Parts: sequence; C-alpha cells; structure tokens
Amino acid sequence: MAGSTPEIERDPEAMRGRILAARREGRRVGFVPTMGSLHAGHASLASRARESCDDVAVSIFVNPTQFGPREDYDRYPRNLEADCELLARHGVRWVFAPAVEAVYPPGNATRIVVDGPARRFEGELRPGHFAGVATVVCRLFQAVPADVAYFGAKDWQQTLVVRRMVHDLGLPIGILVCPTVRDPDGLAMSSRNAYLSPAERQRAVALAESLAQAERLWSQGRSVAEIEPAMRTALAARDVSCDYAAVVDPESLEPLVDPHGPAIALVAGRIGTTRLIDNRELPSRTTVG
Ligand code: PAF
Repeated sequence: MAGSTPEIERDPEAMRGRILAARREGRRVGFVPTMGSLHAGHASLASRARESCDDVAVSIFVNPTQFGPREDYDRYPRNLEADCELLARHGVRWVFAPAVEAVYPPGNATRIVVDGPARRFEGELRPGHFAGVATVVCRLFQAVPADVAYFGAKDWQQTLVVRRMVHDLGLPIGILVCPTVRDPDGLAMSSRNAYLSPAERQRAVALAESLAQAERLWSQGRSVAEIEPAMRTALAARDVSCDYAAVVDPESLEPLVDPHGPAIALVAGRIGTTRLIDNRELPSRTTVG
C-alpha cells in the first residue's frame, strides 16, 4: 500500500495547531505514540487508527526519562527515515518528532507519578520508569490532542498506567489497546528484538513458550502456585533469566482474589544484555484444581 510521506513536525505548538485545525474541520484524529524503530506491531496500530480515523499522527521520540541510568537509552535504535517510509505505507499524515529540549525545556521540574498499577513488576524493577512514561505521554497528548490514542497490549502494565493517568487527570482522549503482533514462532514484536544475535533470537521464544505453558495449565484448572514455577521452568529451559513470571489480576496486577479469573500472565526475561517482556490474557474459568 503506497502513500505520501508523512509531514514531519518537530515543534509541539505547531503540531498542536495542526491537530486542532483538523478537528475543527470535523476530522477524527488518531494518535500512535512510539519511540521509533518501528516494526509490524507499530504498523498494526497505525492501520487500526487509520481504519477509524480521518487523520493519523505518530510520535517518534526516544524518551530519556523512562530509561534508568544503566539502561539502553544511548543504544536504543533510531531510524527516522525508515520509520517514515513504513508510516507512508499506512496512510499516516503527521509524524511528530520533537527534540528532547522541546519536550523537556530547560528548568522543567514536573513529573507525573502514578501509583496503583505502576507499583509492581516493571515499576519495582525499573524505578522511575512509569513516571517517565506518564510524564511524556501527558506531554505528547498536549502536543497531539487527538480523539483517541492507540497502545499495544504487549506493554500491558504501561496501558494500565496510561489509562489510570488519563482517568485521574480527566484528559480528554480515548485510549484503545490493540493486540500484540507476533513473529510466526510466537515472539512478540519489539524494537529491542533488534539487539538479539541469531542464537539469542532462538532462545527468546522462551517468553512465548512460558506464556503458552501458563495458558495450558490455567485452562486445565491448575492453581497460580503451580503455574508460576512452570513458567519459570520454561524460561530456564532456554537459558533465559527470569525477572518475573506471574499470574495476577489483569487490572490491579495484584494477586488474584478470584482464582477463577480473569487473569493475566506476565513475564520478563533477560537474554544476554537484552531484556524482553510479554504477557497473555487468561479468560475466566470454572474449575480450579
Ligand atoms: O511504548 C512506548 O513506545 C513508549 O513507552 C511510549 C508510550 C511511546 C512513551 O515513550
């Protein structure tokens, strides 16, 4: 599907002006926030937005405040030209690609700290990560005041944090969460997959295998106490270090109150220097062993 190259806007005020002008004309605007290095997962979000909106804006901004001091901010892959080519094929009208100083002007001192769903898992292992995410998403929503924003379900905890913030601050934007896009062997698409050597790429399928195991045992009525060790075993079978493997409430991310669910299986693992996360929704069930 060929299309014209998206217009690149770097200035937040100018971006906001363009979006508001389109909306004043009665156009429905969709927004896909990204950190670039786009893959089929991002493309599916842009396509989904294009299906139900007249215009689509995609932001490409590697947000420094969501990376810890020993994380991969400097080496995070960046390729604006290839990203714009991909977005042209999906009918995206605008790319918002601000400089760091445009998002965080000198002297800025405000951060948005979300509690609740931000507390456990990524929040525990990556202190400050979700404050960085919430702050930048709020800033991006100011520059791109769209009708609806699209997020991938792969970052499940992030979607809960964004929803919480939007609700608590009364931000006037809808949030739509779209399914994870996977390689044929089940590995969830992620910009960080680019870090994997061919041998590591083969081992990375362990995350999907661990979630498949969780789903199998869940559907057999097995308890969380049985499922979580089995998830860790699936990771270890391919020499993937486990940061966490858990079955929890899909909204609060706290331990299940109702053992029949619904639930979410969450997994984070490290393969060499690459850290990947994934998840699978587990539907309500009627029997528990
Ligand atoms: O999911 C991402 O790519 C980022 O966390 C986001 C939402 C664009 C904020 O930087």
